[in-house]
Amino acid sequence: MSTGTPAWRIVAAPHPTSLHDPTAWAYHGIAELERAAGLADLGHADAAWTAAAVHADVRHQDHVRTVRLVAVAPDGGTPGDVVGAATLWGDLDDNRTWADVTVMVHPRHRRRGIGTALADRIEAEAADDGRRTVLTEVAFGEPAPGDRLLTPPTDTGHAPADHPGVAFALARGYRLEQVERRSVLSVPVEPARLERLAADALEHAPGYRLHTWHDEIPATWLAGFAALETRMSTDVPSGEMDWAEEVWDTGRVRDLVARHHESGDGFVVTAAEHVATGELAAMTMLLFPTDDGESADQEDTIVLQAHRGHRLGMLVKAVNLQALARRRPSTRRVHTGNAAENAHMLAINEALGFRAEGGSATLRLTQAGR
Ligand SMILES: CC(C)(COP(=O)(O)OP(=O)(O)OC[C@H]1O[C@@H](n2cnc3c(N)ncnc32)[C@H](O)[C@@H]1OP(=O)(O)O)[C@@H](O)C(=O)NCCC(=O)NCCS
Repeated sequence: MSTGTPAWRIVAAPHPTSLHDPTAWAYHGIAELERAAGLADLGHADAAWTAAAVHADVRHQDHVRTVRLVAVAPDGGTPGDVVGAATLWGDLDDNRTWADVTVMVHPRHRRRGIGTALADRIEAEAADDGRRTVLTEVAFGEPAPGDRLLTPPTDTGHAPADHPGVAFALARGYRLEQVERRSVLSVPVEPARLERLAADALEHAPGYRLHTWHDEIPATWLAGFAALETRMSTDVPSGEMDWAEEVWDTGRVRDLVARHHESGDGFVVTAAEHVATGELAAMTMLLFPTDDGESADQEDTIVLQAHRGHRLGMLVKAVNLQALARRRPSTRRVHTGNAAENAHMLAINEALGFRAEGGSATLRLTQAGR
């Protein structure tokens, strides 16, 4: 700051009962900020949070505590006054000493200390809540020739050292832990190709029956779905980050579904049932705004250990892409992220036609006691 009077202040984002309330300015402002930052940093706003998604995220705090802060012009109170935002998510059931945080500053207002002020506040929130381990994720595009690259302790993947988000976190004492590869698939995939991939996989998976669900998880499958999500929390490679298992129950799955509905998102899930035992062995989810937009996100995909080696990962993913083409034909892009060391998942994605679009770095700060 060049003068003694800050051109902004940091406040907790007010939580309105409805997005039509005047107090909803902060959530609309966060959505505008997300779009502007996405366009500037990644060249698209496909991953930008909407105001409805922020609203649903703050409403659903049974399992995860959420804190949303905004940096605004001193007497600001309109969406356009939001120049930065920070969020904390803290798991309430497990991992109570861990927090996930993000800090985002509008591209026109960077390098003025707003990010630092937001990070100071949100890290203090984490520490006050007993959360001394703070993780943050920074998404970046494909590195350019000559970029200075950092290698995480997992020894797989690289993050650009001079990327604003990475440089910012490192300057605050975070350490690079893991790098995810981000990939994108152009859809619709040629139907004959998907059909062939699904049919080939099916040949290796006798004894399994597929189910595809739109916008709901049927009551009879809630427990099986919860068991898969519990496994997801520990089976995905996480480098040296030794967090505890997240135990999911049927209530938590219902909460996830309600949150997607309130966010204005639809989804398709394809799951594989092991016919002999009736156990849910695998599942994958694609999530998308219920408008006729072009972008969708690949959410969790998991195959239980006991059922690996039957090409169930490829099978559920190929069949789910077929379901997406029917359910939301306007979709043109599916984005995904995978740990760079997750060779099996990456091989499936490459066979489906995903191509690299950069990565995402996970950085960790260990806070001293307060
Ligand atoms: C990262 C981000 C939040 C920084 O916000 P900001 O308001 O510009 O940050 P500050 O002005 O407080 O910068 C603090 C320090 O971070 C480092 N830094 C920030 N931007 C940098 C850049 N582009 N290149 C190198 N270092 C940078 C510098 O050390 C800087 O101190 P200095 O300006 O005295 O050199 C902003 O660039 C952003 O929103 N990026 C997209 C989202 C993201 O990646 N968030 C980070 C993970 S949570």
